[in-house]
Amino acid sequence: MTDLIVSTIQECCVLIHKLVREAPLKNNHGEYDHKENNKNVSNDIVQKLDILSNNILISHLSTLPLIYSLASEENENELICNKEGKYRVVFDPLDGSSNISAGIPTGTIWGIEDLSNNYEMIRSGYAMYSSSLYFLDTGVDLNKKDISLSVYDYSVNKFQEIDKKGIKKMKQYSINESNTLRWDHSVCDYILYLKENGYTQRWIGTMVADIHRTILYGGVFCYPVEKISKNGKLRLVYECRPMALIFRKLGGMAVNTTTLENILDMDIKNIKNNIHQKCGVIMGDKNLVEIFLERNKVLKSKL
Ligand code: F6P
Repeated sequence: MTDLIVSTIQECCVLIHKLVREAPLKNNHGEYDHKENNKNVSNDIVQKLDILSNNILISHLSTLPLIYSLASEENENELICNKEGKYRVVFDPLDGSSNISAGIPTGTIWGIEDLSNNYEMIRSGYAMYSSSLYFLDTGVDLNKKDISLSVYDYSVNKFQEIDKKGIKKMKQYSINESNTLRWDHSVCDYILYLKENGYTQRWIGTMVADIHRTILYGGVFCYPVEKISKNGKLRLVYECRPMALIFRKLGGMAVNTTTLENILDMDIKNIKNNIHQKCGVIMGDKNLVEIFLERNKVLKSKL
């Protein structure tokens, strides 16, 4: 049932990739020029391409009868499309937009929630606009390994599934290390543990690209909350939950760095209206995430 939604998202991603590729030539780099306010609900500066990408997704998806509503990073409230629809589609239309003007990889994160089952995320993925147009789809069956990674073949205008076998695993972790002074003790302890065990740090600053590398090379991706504000940066509904489903299907794990709950099992209060809530997150290799949880327990028991 959700195949039509996913193929429509794919069509949109091909159009967004064109926008991203042509942005330097068409003067589409830079901030969105809005007279009163050029920040979104999360206080990020909105770029021209954020708006253009959002418009593409909304115009294509809102006509599908299966979709009840859309929840986008760029809209304050969920947009109701078809009262008879069964699903809510959530998305960050252009993730990593602060990297756009430098031509660094960006992406689109998407997820499909089942309204009849308490907004359960049933399918998700991302597109990455990079050396190629990559598209990851978890597939429909949550118990089957039908996850696929494909690349858009411009010579035949379609996505072709690629083989990931043979990619060498590496000891890497991904975190914005300039925030070290704002992390709480458990995160500092964990990153020190990774360093002592031969892991090296990588950070592109586009969640899609950092997650994509983590999927292929192994390791963990982390964006914890700040010690004082207790606010993370990444949004639960259209960033963390879609990525958490990908890791669950790959045998990995995603947890909230504060409550230590599994991201997909979190009881989200008011998920319908509160679409921009944030949380701290660590996700990736199951064993490495479990080490974070165990060290956390030991530290807490010493308090
Ligand atoms: O959506 C927020 C985002 O752009 C993510 O794609 C990325 O992981 C993160 O922010 C980068 O944050 P920072 O600029 O703090 O490193």
